[in-house]
Amino acid sequence: MGRKTLVLLLGVLGAYYVYTPLPDNIEEPWRLVWLSVQFRTLQNLALFAELLGINHFMETLMFCMSFREVPPTSDENVTVMETTFSNVPVRVYIPNQKSQALRRGVFYIHGGGWCLGSAAWVVYDLLSRETVNRLDAVVVSTNYRLAPKYHFPDQFEDVYNSLKWFLHQDVLEKYGVDPKRIGISGDSAGGNLAAAVTQQLIDDPDVKIKLKTQSLIYPALQTLDMDLPSYRENSLLPTLSRALMVRFWSEYFTTDRSLEKAMLSNQHAPVESIHLFKFVNWSSLLPETFKKGHVYNSPTHGTSEVFKKFPGFLDVRAAPLLADDNKLHSLPVTYVITCQYDVLRDDGIMYVTRLQKAGIRVTHQHIEDGFHGAISHLNFKIGHRIKNHYLSWLNENL
Ligand SMILES: *[C@@H]1O[C@H](CO)[C@@H](O)[C@H](O)[C@H]1NC(C)=O
Ligand SMILES: *[C@@H]1O[C@H](CO)[C@@H](O)[C@H](O)[C@H]1NC(C)=O
Repeated sequence: MGRKTLVLLLGVLGAYYVYTPLPDNIEEPWRLVWLSVQFRTLQNLALFAELLGINHFMETLMFCMSFREVPPTSDENVTVMETTFSNVPVRVYIPNQKSQALRRGVFYIHGGGWCLGSAAWVVYDLLSRETVNRLDAVVVSTNYRLAPKYHFPDQFEDVYNSLKWFLHQDVLEKYGVDPKRIGISGDSAGGNLAAAVTQQLIDDPDVKIKLKTQSLIYPALQTLDMDLPSYRENSLLPTLSRALMVRFWSEYFTTDRSLEKAMLSNQHAPVESIHLFKFVNWSSLLPETFKKGHVYNSPTHGTSEVFKKFPGFLDVRAAPLLADDNKLHSLPVTYVITCQYDVLRDDGIMYVTRLQKAGIRVTHQHIEDGFHGAISHLNFKIGHRIKNHYLSWLNENL
């Protein structure tokens, strides 16, 4: 083969690898293509290492992303410290300026598919600082144990225990937080955990202090139907493919790959779950614009095998969209961000519909040109836009 042919061949292969079909209204498309190439390369590397038996897929990703961590450094406006709440490591951000009045409190839960992420990641550290600066609030950014080492319900329980610790009267007093003005927020898997612990808190007789707001940033809320219009439309878009989301979900429950296989073909719903289908029925829960051009197929139930092995995926603590209506009536004022180009879009929208029907005051911020994870990419204009929407809402409602 001549050198020219080789160069041409490599060029074609390279172009094929970089090629990422994007919707027309995506802002800064080349930036997103570049991000997508980096993500895909990292994932391919992790898959390859897993194939060779060197390392678990998620552990390679976590290792490669550990450079995103920054130490808890105080600055002129914010004192940052690391401590534990009920044995769960947290970062606490406190405004330096003296205040006579009690402050608002924000409890933040990072994303990363229950497998990745940390309160120490620079994006979360920056978001916490900005929340302090904009709201003059105390921010608690919690960690939790991650898969593949730990599975459901460990992630949920860590977050729940950490939150309950924060909600003690004496802890709030120590940090100067007003017990009537505490909000919970999270993105992606953090939005899932935020929604789940907020539901759980309602019936907890030990907790006297209630949350004022919940802010769910493109949350994952259900595992029952992996064939929603948003999964169909965005399955190959950056930064979260359907395949990766299914992997995250299944890793939350188990490292056994049989659950993932069943979820990929949407055949994991057991017969026992038929009564839950109405809670994820996009045909009745999505507004017309999001249903356009799609035909509803209810999840195929049949095999109960996977369900018997991993019952967690129908547990409301993992899938808050499966909660009964009577549970939803007492939820706090809610803010939901969804992105048009995100497999998780319809999870968020269906929750908005259900909460509105339950009489909860909900603000739904739908980002027409948004993609999953945008708030974590502050080199994108859209990352700033979403962050500003979120912080403005929080400032007005908390
Ligand atoms: C501290 O707050 C001031 C006033 O809001 C701001 O101009 C400055 O950039 C902040 N410093 C840091 C390190 O964020
Ligand atoms: C889903 O909703 C549609 C429209 O409201 C309804 O016709 C259908 O029976 C529902 N299916 C399930 C499984 O709940």
